[in-house]
Amino acid sequence: MAQLKVKTLGGDKKSIDAKDGTIMMEALRDAGLIDATCGGAASCGTCHVYFADSSLAGEHTEDEGYMLESLADFVEVKDGSRLCCQVKVTEDLDGAELDIAPEA
Ligand code: FES
Repeated sequence: MAQLKVKTLGGDKKSIDAKDGTIMMEALRDAGLIDATCGGAASCGTCHVYFADSSLAGEHTEDEGYMLESLADFVEVKDGSRLCCQVKVTEDLDGAELDIAPEA
């Protein structure tokens, strides 16, 4: 289990529990924090988050990298940017701080 510290666009802070081995997007979507419009196909960008500690963000998948390049025309893409539908939850992410990115 990882407890994620999520800051919404409005500045509210929420703690979200996510089970190890699940996809991070599912926990954030189920908490109503993101839309995840494409359902996890790395093709909508509505699950874009910023890891406060970019060393926790991990590597982009190939499709995710293309999507983040597209998003960069509209919103800030940072070192800690991830599409959370491409992030598997592990206990290493317990306590990770995330900001929901603005929608493109
Ligand atoms: S849910 Fe669409 S890109 Fe992640």
